Amino acid sequence: MPTIELLAPAKVNLSLLVGPRRPDGYHELVTVLNTISINDRLRLSLRPATDWRIRVSGRRPVDGYPTEAPALPSDTDNLAGQAATLFVEATNGRVPVSEVDVEIEKHIPVAAGLGGGSSNAAAVLAALNEHFGRPLTTGSLASLAARLGSDVPFFLVGGRAVGRGRGELVAPLGEGPGLPLVIGLPSFPLATPEVYRQFDRRGGPRTSLRQWLADTEDALALLQDALASGDLARVAGALRNDLAESAASLRPEVGPAVQALLAAGSRGATVSGSGPTVFGLASSWEEALGMAPRLTARGYRFVAASATTASVATPVTAPAVPGGAGASGHATKPHDAP
Ligand code: C5P
Repeated sequence: MPTIELLAPAKVNLSLLVGPRRPDGYHELVTVLNTISINDRLRLSLRPATDWRIRVSGRRPVDGYPTEAPALPSDTDNLAGQAATLFVEATNGRVPVSEVDVEIEKHIPVAAGLGGGSSNAAAVLAALNEHFGRPLTTGSLASLAARLGSDVPFFLVGGRAVGRGRGELVAPLGEGPGLPLVIGLPSFPLATPEVYRQFDRRGGPRTSLRQWLADTEDALALLQDALASGDLARVAGALRNDLAESAASLRPEVGPAVQALLAAGSRGATVSGSGPTVFGLASSWEEALGMAPRLTARGYRFVAASATTASVATPVTAPAVPGGAGASGHATKPHDAP
Protein backbone atom coordinates (compact mmCIF):
# COMPACT_ATOMS: atom_id res chain seq x y z
CA MET A 1 0.00 0.00 0.00
CA PRO A 2 1.81 3.16 -1.12
CA THR A 3 2.14 5.74 1.61
CA ILE A 4 3.16 9.30 0.90
CA GLU A 5 4.34 11.53 3.73
CA LEU A 6 3.97 15.26 3.16
CA LEU A 7 4.66 18.51 4.93
CA ALA A 8 2.24 21.31 4.14
CA PRO A 9 3.57 24.72 5.24
CA ALA A 10 1.65 27.71 6.59
CA LYS A 11 2.04 31.18 5.07
CA VAL A 12 2.01 34.77 6.19
CA ASN A 13 1.07 37.75 4.05
CA LEU A 14 3.95 40.22 4.22
CA SER A 15 1.55 42.65 2.63
CA LEU A 16 -2.14 42.33 1.86
CA LEU A 17 -3.55 45.25 -0.12
CA VAL A 18 -7.31 44.93 -0.50
CA GLY A 19 -9.23 46.69 -3.25
CA PRO A 20 -12.90 47.07 -4.02
CA ARG A 21 -15.38 44.21 -3.84
CA ARG A 22 -15.87 42.75 -7.32
CA PRO A 23 -19.18 41.72 -8.94
CA ASP A 24 -18.36 38.06 -8.10
CA GLY A 25 -18.19 38.93 -4.38
CA TYR A 26 -14.40 38.59 -4.05
CA HIS A 27 -12.09 41.52 -3.44
CA GLU A 28 -9.33 42.56 -5.80
CA LEU A 29 -6.00 41.86 -4.04
CA VAL A 30 -2.32 42.53 -4.37
CA THR A 31 -0.55 40.45 -1.76
CA VAL A 32 2.93 39.13 -1.01
CA LEU A 33 2.73 35.64 0.45
CA ASN A 34 5.56 33.73 2.08
CA THR A 35 5.55 30.14 3.33
CA ILE A 36 6.90 29.73 6.86
CA SER A 37 8.50 26.95 8.87
CA ILE A 38 5.29 25.80 10.57
CA ASN A 39 3.83 22.72 8.89
CA ASP A 40 0.95 20.30 8.99
CA ARG A 41 1.97 16.69 8.43
CA LEU A 42 -0.06 14.69 5.95
CA ARG A 43 0.00 10.98 5.27
CA LEU A 44 -1.69 9.71 2.12
CA SER A 45 -2.33 5.97 1.87
CA LEU A 46 -3.50 4.59 -1.45
CA ARG A 47 -4.80 1.14 -2.21
CA PRO A 48 -6.43 -0.36 -5.32
CA ALA A 49 -10.23 -0.45 -5.17
CA THR A 50 -13.27 -1.00 -7.35
CA ASP A 51 -14.78 2.42 -6.53
CA TRP A 52 -13.15 5.69 -5.65
CA ARG A 53 -13.26 6.36 -1.95
CA ILE A 54 -11.69 9.41 -0.35
CA ARG A 55 -11.37 9.68 3.41
CA VAL A 56 -9.84 12.57 5.34
CA SER A 57 -9.28 12.49 9.08
CA GLY A 58 -7.42 14.88 11.29
CA ARG A 59 -5.74 14.88 14.63
CA ARG A 60 -4.15 17.60 16.64
CA PRO A 61 -1.04 17.40 18.73
CA VAL A 62 -1.83 17.00 22.42
CA ASP A 63 0.04 20.15 23.44
CA GLY A 64 0.15 23.59 21.98
CA TYR A 65 -2.86 23.46 19.66
CA PRO A 66 -5.48 26.25 20.03
CA THR A 67 -8.16 25.28 22.49
CA GLU A 68 -11.03 27.26 20.94
CA ALA A 69 -10.33 26.15 17.38
CA PRO A 70 -13.23 24.67 15.44
CA ALA A 71 -13.24 20.92 14.81
CA LEU A 72 -11.31 19.77 11.78
CA PRO A 73 -13.74 18.90 8.95
CA SER A 74 -13.48 15.32 7.70
CA ASP A 75 -13.76 13.66 4.28
CA THR A 76 -15.08 15.97 1.56
CA ASP A 77 -16.04 18.64 4.10
CA ASN A 78 -12.28 19.12 4.33
CA LEU A 79 -10.61 21.09 1.53
CA ALA A 80 -8.04 18.27 1.21
CA GLY A 81 -10.91 15.83 0.48
CA GLN A 82 -12.33 18.26 -2.08
CA ALA A 83 -8.87 18.48 -3.67
CA ALA A 84 -8.68 14.69 -4.05
CA THR A 85 -12.22 14.60 -5.51
CA LEU A 86 -11.45 17.34 -8.04
CA PHE A 87 -8.25 15.55 -9.03
CA VAL A 88 -10.18 12.33 -9.72
CA GLU A 89 -12.81 14.18 -11.77
CA ALA A 90 -10.19 16.07 -13.77
CA THR A 91 -8.22 12.92 -14.61
CA ASN A 92 -11.45 11.36 -15.88
CA GLY A 93 -10.56 7.65 -15.86
CA ARG A 94 -6.87 8.15 -16.64
CA VAL A 95 -5.68 6.98 -13.21
CA PRO A 96 -6.38 3.63 -11.52
CA VAL A 97 -9.36 3.56 -9.17
CA SER A 98 -8.18 3.76 -5.58
CA GLU A 99 -9.07 4.30 -2.00
CA VAL A 100 -7.32 7.40 -0.73
CA ASP A 101 -6.85 7.97 2.98
CA VAL A 102 -5.55 11.36 4.06
CA GLU A 103 -4.52 11.71 7.69
CA ILE A 104 -3.70 15.24 8.72
CA GLU A 105 -1.65 15.96 11.81
CA LYS A 106 -2.65 19.54 12.40
CA HIS A 107 -0.10 22.03 13.67
CA ILE A 108 -1.38 25.09 11.78
CA PRO A 109 -4.35 26.64 13.61
CA VAL A 110 -7.63 26.51 11.66
CA ALA A 111 -9.30 29.78 10.49
CA ALA A 112 -6.25 31.76 11.59
CA GLY A 113 -5.07 33.55 8.41
CA LEU A 114 -2.19 31.09 7.95
CA GLY A 115 -3.64 29.21 4.96
CA GLY A 116 -3.46 25.77 6.59
CA GLY A 117 -6.49 24.28 4.82
CA SER A 118 -5.38 25.73 1.47
CA SER A 119 -1.89 24.31 1.96
CA ASN A 120 -3.27 20.85 2.80
CA ALA A 121 -5.38 20.95 -0.39
CA ALA A 122 -2.43 21.98 -2.58
CA ALA A 123 -0.24 19.26 -1.05
CA VAL A 124 -2.88 16.61 -1.84
CA LEU A 125 -3.28 17.85 -5.44
CA ALA A 126 0.47 17.90 -6.06
CA ALA A 127 1.09 14.54 -4.39
CA LEU A 128 -1.70 12.71 -6.25
CA ASN A 129 -0.55 14.16 -9.56
CA GLU A 130 3.00 13.04 -8.87
CA HIS A 131 1.97 9.61 -7.62
CA PHE A 132 -0.10 8.85 -10.72
CA GLY A 133 2.65 9.95 -13.13
CA ARG A 134 1.60 13.57 -13.70
CA PRO A 135 -1.63 13.13 -15.67
CA LEU A 136 -2.36 16.86 -15.19
CA THR A 137 -0.22 19.73 -16.41
CA THR A 138 1.03 22.41 -14.03
CA GLY A 139 -1.56 24.76 -15.57
CA SER A 140 -4.46 22.34 -14.99
CA LEU A 141 -3.34 21.78 -11.40
CA ALA A 142 -3.26 25.56 -10.87
CA SER A 143 -6.80 25.97 -12.20
CA LEU A 144 -8.09 23.13 -10.00
CA ALA A 145 -6.32 24.82 -7.09
CA ALA A 146 -8.03 28.15 -7.88
CA ARG A 147 -11.43 26.42 -7.79
CA LEU A 148 -10.64 25.19 -4.27
CA GLY A 149 -9.73 28.61 -2.88
CA SER A 150 -7.94 31.86 -3.64
CA ASP A 151 -4.77 30.89 -1.70
CA VAL A 152 -4.48 27.30 -2.96
CA PRO A 153 -2.51 28.06 -6.20
CA PHE A 154 0.18 29.83 -4.15
CA PHE A 155 0.80 26.67 -2.12
CA LEU A 156 1.59 24.69 -5.29
CA VAL A 157 4.63 26.94 -5.57
CA GLY A 158 5.37 28.18 -2.04
CA GLY A 159 8.33 30.33 -1.10
CA ARG A 160 7.71 34.04 -1.66
CA ALA A 161 5.27 35.21 -4.34
CA VAL A 162 2.92 37.99 -5.36
CA GLY A 163 -0.77 37.10 -5.59
CA ARG A 164 -3.10 39.21 -7.72
CA GLY A 165 -6.73 39.01 -8.85
CA ARG A 166 -8.52 37.43 -5.89
CA GLY A 167 -5.11 36.06 -4.87
CA GLU A 168 -5.04 33.12 -7.27
CA LEU A 169 -2.80 34.70 -9.94
CA VAL A 170 0.60 33.84 -8.54
CA ALA A 171 3.97 35.22 -9.64
CA PRO A 172 6.95 33.85 -7.67
CA LEU A 173 9.44 36.43 -6.43
CA GLY A 174 13.07 35.59 -6.97
CA GLU A 175 15.58 34.43 -4.42
CA GLY A 176 16.08 36.72 -1.47
CA PRO A 177 17.22 36.67 2.13
CA GLY A 178 15.07 34.78 4.65
CA LEU A 179 13.10 36.64 7.30
CA PRO A 180 13.27 35.82 11.03
CA LEU A 181 9.72 36.07 12.36
CA VAL A 182 7.88 35.81 15.65
CA ILE A 183 4.39 34.46 15.05
CA GLY A 184 1.47 34.92 17.46
CA LEU A 185 -0.66 31.79 17.04
CA PRO A 186 -4.23 32.53 18.13
CA SER A 187 -6.31 30.31 20.38
CA PHE A 188 -9.48 31.53 18.63
CA PRO A 189 -10.65 31.55 14.99
CA LEU A 190 -11.86 34.34 12.68
CA ALA A 191 -14.03 33.58 9.64
CA THR A 192 -12.47 35.07 6.49
CA PRO A 193 -15.79 36.13 4.84
CA GLU A 194 -16.75 37.94 8.06
CA VAL A 195 -13.48 39.93 8.04
CA TYR A 196 -13.97 40.95 4.40
CA ARG A 197 -17.56 42.00 5.19
CA GLN A 198 -16.23 44.11 8.04
CA PHE A 199 -13.71 45.67 5.62
CA ASP A 200 -16.64 46.67 3.36
CA ARG A 201 -18.70 47.98 6.31
CA ARG A 202 -15.73 50.14 7.30
CA GLY A 203 -15.74 51.78 3.85
CA GLY A 204 -13.44 49.54 1.77
CA PRO A 205 -10.40 51.02 0.01
CA ARG A 206 -12.03 54.46 -0.51
CA THR A 207 -10.52 54.90 -4.00
CA SER A 208 -11.46 53.91 -7.52
CA LEU A 209 -10.11 50.60 -8.81
CA ARG A 210 -7.79 52.46 -11.20
CA GLN A 211 -6.33 54.63 -8.43
CA TRP A 212 -6.10 51.64 -6.09
CA LEU A 213 -4.18 49.62 -8.68
CA ALA A 214 -1.69 52.47 -9.21
CA ASP A 215 -1.18 52.97 -5.45
CA THR A 216 -0.73 49.29 -4.76
CA GLU A 217 1.86 48.80 -7.51
CA ASP A 218 3.92 51.57 -5.82
CA ALA A 219 3.53 49.92 -2.40
CA LEU A 220 4.40 46.53 -3.88
CA ALA A 221 7.55 47.91 -5.55
CA LEU A 222 8.71 49.31 -2.19
CA LEU A 223 8.29 45.94 -0.48
CA GLN A 224 9.91 44.04 -3.35
CA ASP A 225 12.96 46.33 -3.30
CA ALA A 226 13.21 46.01 0.47
CA LEU A 227 12.97 42.20 0.29
CA ALA A 228 15.59 41.99 -2.45
CA SER A 229 17.98 44.23 -0.47
CA GLY A 230 17.59 42.19 2.72
CA ASP A 231 17.39 45.45 4.69
CA LEU A 232 15.08 44.36 7.51
CA ALA A 233 14.29 47.94 8.58
CA ARG A 234 12.96 48.66 5.09
CA VAL A 235 11.03 45.38 5.00
CA ALA A 236 9.50 46.23 8.37
CA GLY A 237 8.42 49.63 7.06
CA ALA A 238 6.70 48.02 4.09
CA LEU A 239 4.68 45.39 6.04
CA ARG A 240 1.00 46.21 5.58
CA ASN A 241 -2.33 44.48 5.95
CA ASP A 242 -5.50 46.30 4.91
CA LEU A 243 -7.63 43.75 6.81
CA ALA A 244 -5.78 44.30 10.10
CA GLU A 245 -8.16 46.93 11.48
CA SER A 246 -11.21 44.96 10.39
CA ALA A 247 -9.88 41.86 12.18
CA ALA A 248 -8.98 43.94 15.25
CA SER A 249 -12.45 45.49 15.33
CA LEU A 250 -14.00 41.99 15.40
CA ARG A 251 -11.68 40.58 18.09
CA PRO A 252 -10.26 42.83 20.83
CA GLU A 253 -7.27 40.50 21.36
CA VAL A 254 -5.73 41.30 17.94
CA GLY A 255 -4.56 44.91 18.50
CA PRO A 256 -2.81 44.21 21.83
CA ALA A 257 -1.02 41.19 20.30
CA VAL A 258 0.44 43.41 17.53
CA GLN A 259 1.39 45.98 20.20
CA ALA A 260 3.05 43.26 22.32
CA LEU A 261 5.25 42.30 19.35
CA LEU A 262 6.27 45.93 18.78
CA ALA A 263 6.89 46.54 22.50
CA ALA A 264 9.13 43.46 22.64
CA GLY A 265 11.36 44.93 19.91
CA SER A 266 9.90 43.64 16.63
CA ARG A 267 10.94 45.92 13.80
CA GLY A 268 7.45 45.80 12.37
CA ALA A 269 4.36 43.76 13.12
CA THR A 270 0.95 43.15 11.59
CA VAL A 271 -1.80 40.58 11.03
CA SER A 272 -1.51 37.66 8.59
CA GLY A 273 -4.32 37.24 6.06
CA SER A 274 -7.72 37.83 7.58
CA GLY A 275 -6.25 37.11 11.02
CA PRO A 276 -6.27 36.59 13.86
CA THR A 277 -2.62 35.40 13.56
CA VAL A 278 -0.15 38.24 14.12
CA PHE A 279 3.54 38.29 13.29
CA GLY A 280 6.56 40.49 13.85
CA LEU A 281 9.90 40.81 12.13
CA ALA A 282 12.98 40.22 14.33
CA SER A 283 16.50 41.48 13.61
CA SER A 284 17.98 38.00 13.60
CA TRP A 285 16.99 34.37 14.03
CA GLU A 286 18.59 34.38 17.52
CA GLU A 287 16.49 37.42 18.46
CA ALA A 288 13.29 35.74 17.19
CA LEU A 289 14.10 32.59 19.23
CA GLY A 290 14.78 34.67 22.33
CA MET A 291 11.75 36.93 21.94
CA ALA A 292 9.04 34.32 21.31
CA PRO A 293 8.98 32.57 24.71
CA ARG A 294 9.01 35.90 26.60
CA LEU A 295 5.97 37.30 24.80
CA THR A 296 2.48 37.11 26.25
CA ALA A 297 -0.82 38.46 24.95
CA ARG A 298 -4.32 37.25 25.77
CA GLY A 299 -5.38 34.52 23.33
CA TYR A 300 -1.94 34.02 21.75
CA ARG A 301 1.06 31.70 21.90
CA PHE A 302 4.23 33.05 20.32
CA VAL A 303 6.74 30.98 18.35
CA ALA A 304 9.77 31.78 16.17
CA ALA A 305 9.55 30.83 12.49
CA SER A 306 11.43 31.62 9.31
CA ALA A 307 10.09 32.78 5.95
CA THR A 308 12.40 31.86 3.10
CA THR A 309 12.19 32.03 -0.68
CA ALA A 310 12.73 28.27 -1.07
CA SER A 311 9.84 26.92 -3.13
CA VAL A 312 7.81 23.90 -2.06
CA ALA A 313 9.71 20.74 -3.04
CA THR A 314 8.30 18.71 -5.90
CA PRO A 315 6.58 15.78 -4.27
CA VAL A 316 7.94 12.35 -5.03
CA THR A 317 6.13 9.04 -4.84
CA ALA A 318 7.17 7.21 -1.71
CA PRO A 319 8.29 3.58 -1.69
CA ALA A 320 5.45 1.09 -1.58
CA VAL A 321 6.37 0.22 1.99
CA PRO A 322 3.91 1.82 4.40
CA GLY A 323 5.78 4.54 6.24
CA GLY A 324 8.97 3.26 4.62
CA ALA A 325 12.28 5.03 4.94
CA GLY A 326 12.72 7.77 2.40
CA ALA A 327 8.99 8.49 2.13
CA SER A 328 8.86 12.10 1.19
CA GLY A 329 6.69 14.64 -0.49
CA HIS A 330 5.54 18.19 -0.84
CA ALA A 331 8.00 20.31 1.15
CA THR A 332 9.49 17.34 2.87
CA LYS A 333 11.52 19.36 5.31
CA PRO A 334 10.83 22.55 7.22
CA HIS A 335 12.55 25.61 5.86
CA ASP A 336 15.98 26.22 7.22
CA ALA A 337 16.38 29.12 9.55
CA PRO A 338 17.61 32.23 7.74
O1 C5P B 1 -11.18 31.95 -1.91
P1 C5P B 1 -11.59 31.54 -0.54
O2 C5P B 1 -12.63 30.44 -0.56
O3 C5P B 1 -10.45 31.21 0.35
O4 C5P B 1 -12.30 32.80 0.09
C1 C5P B 1 -13.06 32.74 1.27
C2 C5P B 1 -13.90 33.99 1.38
O5 C5P B 1 -13.06 35.13 1.62
C3 C5P B 1 -14.68 34.34 0.14
O6 C5P B 1 -15.92 33.66 0.11
C4 C5P B 1 -14.86 35.83 0.29
O7 C5P B 1 -15.89 36.12 1.20
C5 C5P B 1 -13.56 36.25 0.93
N1 C5P B 1 -12.56 36.71 -0.03
C6 C5P B 1 -12.73 37.92 -0.66
N2 C5P B 1 -11.80 38.34 -1.57
C7 C5P B 1 -10.71 37.59 -1.85
C8 C5P B 1 -10.51 36.35 -1.21
C9 C5P B 1 -11.46 35.93 -0.31
O8 C5P B 1 -13.70 38.63 -0.42
N3 C5P B 1 -9.81 38.04 -2.75
